[in-house]
Formats: sequence, structure tokens, C-alpha cells
Amino acid sequence: MAQKIEIFDTTLRDGEQVPGCQLRTEEKAIIARELELLGVDVIEAGFPISSPGDFLSVVEISKAVNEPVVCALTRSKKEDIDVAAEALHHAKRGRIHTGIGSSDVHIKHKFRSNRDQVLEQGVWATKYAKAKGYEVEFYAEDAGRADLVFLAQLVEAVIAAGADVVNIPDTTGYCLPNLYGKRIQYLMENVKNIDKAIISVHCHNDLGLATANTIAGLSNGARQAEVTINGIGERAGNTSLEEVAMILKTHKDLELYSNIKSERLYELSLLVSSMMRMPVQANKAIVGRNAFAHSSGIHQDGFLKHAENYEIINPSDVGVPSSSIVLTARSGRAALKHRAELLGHRVEGEELNTLYENFLVVADEKKEVTDADLVVLMASMPVLSK
Ligand code: KIV
Ligand code: ZN
Repeated sequence: MAQKIEIFDTTLRDGEQVPGCQLRTEEKAIIARELELLGVDVIEAGFPISSPGDFLSVVEISKAVNEPVVCALTRSKKEDIDVAAEALHHAKRGRIHTGIGSSDVHIKHKFRSNRDQVLEQGVWATKYAKAKGYEVEFYAEDAGRADLVFLAQLVEAVIAAGADVVNIPDTTGYCLPNLYGKRIQYLMENVKNIDKAIISVHCHNDLGLATANTIAGLSNGARQAEVTINGIGERAGNTSLEEVAMILKTHKDLELYSNIKSERLYELSLLVSSMMRMPVQANKAIVGRNAFAHSSGIHQDGFLKHAENYEIINPSDVGVPSSSIVLTARSGRAALKHRAELLGHRVEGEELNTLYENFLVVADEKKEVTDADLVVLMASMPVLSK
């Protein structure tokens, strides 16, 4: 029977660390509500001790969403955990994500410590966080380069200390898929209490392997994937949510599934890209402008004969509209309504009037109102629902 993969979204924490992509708290709350509608299981809302803004974002996101677990990042430090616990006060289900470096590089050159002390600190932090009454996820930072026997000891010790989830990050994006998969397999086979926790995969894209590594980890027993919309994140980014969701949906042979409502992916990709001022590359898988565009004559001919000749995903499955009506200040309500419907929103009566007035303001400023502009306009009208 297919097994469920928990989708842990860190767009608002790891994704938001990208220079120039910082969001205001209200914008984060809007994205968090959309992530809830998308069906993510966990939202990492920020690193509360890092700034008053991050603290406030965790508070507001905790109030804004009902279903997803709201998660706050900490180091293995008392003050971090105290502040995170306070920020999560309004969460219906809160999680403290604490951890420490696990590779010798980090242990020696970041903490100027040794393996024993790191293990002791990790166990202490897990127990301290657990005593706050929240779920606890422990991250073994730079696990992709850690000594595997030590990593297994650390994982076993933090599970014994009460960790509900253990995150095995490839922090530097160093691993190859088969090696990362084998790391997860080793932990599944050698950590005695592994059945007491969920193993999570968190991959970075420095070698362009984040999605491949994530899938390798899930195929070897991990049951949570840490991802961001459009794959945004530090340096070359994190694993992209839309890629993982569509791989699980397309490859039934993996016998894994997520609760992601894939028809909402395109719209959320546009929203995040606009709010973060971070364009999506045209050839980005699933959500890029060219992801469903066929340009060569041979492909066009084959596609028109039978779409499956050149498409493994139906664009409507990820919410990509096929029509190309251009919206400008000359467009009427009918065109706007049609375009909103293609993006999945039925807008009528007063709602349509309000949307139209807001639309004209944007249309007067810009030559053409894009899907991205429309998605931002609709997201700021909370009454609009799909
Ligand atoms: O990449 C990483 O190791 C992280 C941890 C803080 C979870 O983002
Ligand atoms: Zn990370």
C-alpha cells in the first residue's frame, strides 16, 4: 500500500534567507494561508531568536493557519528554545526544530568542539525543547558529510531523548543520489529505535541534485521531505516542492504519495515569485514559463496529434492555464473573470467589481497585467476562494 510523505515547507525560513527576498509579516501570512490550501503538512515559519521580525512572523503564521503544524527553528541553545516556544504560543500544533552540526568539519571548525560534546548538547536541546510541550524535530546539520557511524549514534540518542522527527540535511548539497539514499538506508537499518521517529530529508541544490537526493532518501525510508516553492533558498536553493509533489504523483511505482493539491502549484509559484521579487527561470520544471511550451515543428506536430507524445503531465494538473488572453487597462470584467477562472477562482458580483477596480490600478501602472499580478491581487482579497 502506498505510504504518505509529509511535506514540510520551508519557503518562509530557508527560502526567505535569500538576499533581497525578505518578506513583510503580512506577506508571509498570505503565503502561509496559501500553503495550507495547497495541503502542506508542516510550515517552517521562521527562526524566532534571529530578529523581532522573525519572531512576529512565527506568531502571526501560528494564528493564520489551522491544519499545518507550525515550526520554529532554533540552535541547540536555551535562549533560542525559550524564544521559539514563546513565539509558537498560538499554534494549534507547534514544533520546535532544534539541532547542531554533525560533520567533523562543522564540529571542529564551527563549534571548535568534539563529537561527544556535540552529542551531549543535541540530547540536552532535544529534552529541553520537548519539555516545552511541543513536537520536536532534531536536525543533524551537514549530515551529508558526517561520519555515518557517529550520525547513527546521534540519531539514536536524540530519538531516545524524545525527538519526534529527525532531519538528515545535506546542508552543502554535496551528496550524490545513490550515496544519500544509502545514508538513509544505513540509518533505517542500524538505529535501534528508528521506528519511534520520522526521518526527514532536507537537501540543497549546490550540484543540481536536491530533488534527486530527496527522492533517493524517500525511496530508502524517509517519510518527510523539506522543500520550498520554486526551490528557492540559500545559494543554489533547496529542493523544489512542486518537483517532489509531481514526481510522487507521476511515479506511482514509488508507492508514495503526498496531500499536495497539485492544481494550486502554478498559482502559488507565481505568488511567491512576485512577493519575493525572484523570477522563475523559464525552463524550470513544472512551473517555468516554457515547462509546457512546444516550439519545434516536429514536437508541435506530435503534440497536436496526441498530447502525451511530448507531455508527461497535463498542464491543468498543476494549474497552468492554456489560454493566452492578454489583460490590459482596456480589458473588461469578462476577460478578467475568464482569466481568474483559468487560475481556478470563480469571481462574481461585488467580488468581481472589487477585483476589477484593483486590477485597473495595476493595469494603469503596467502595460500588461500578468498571471503573477492577478494572483497577488486575488491573494490580498481573503474572501476569494477556489
Ligand atoms: O540546511 C540545513 O542544514 C538547514 C538546517 C538548519 C535544518 O537548513
Ligand atoms: Zn537548509
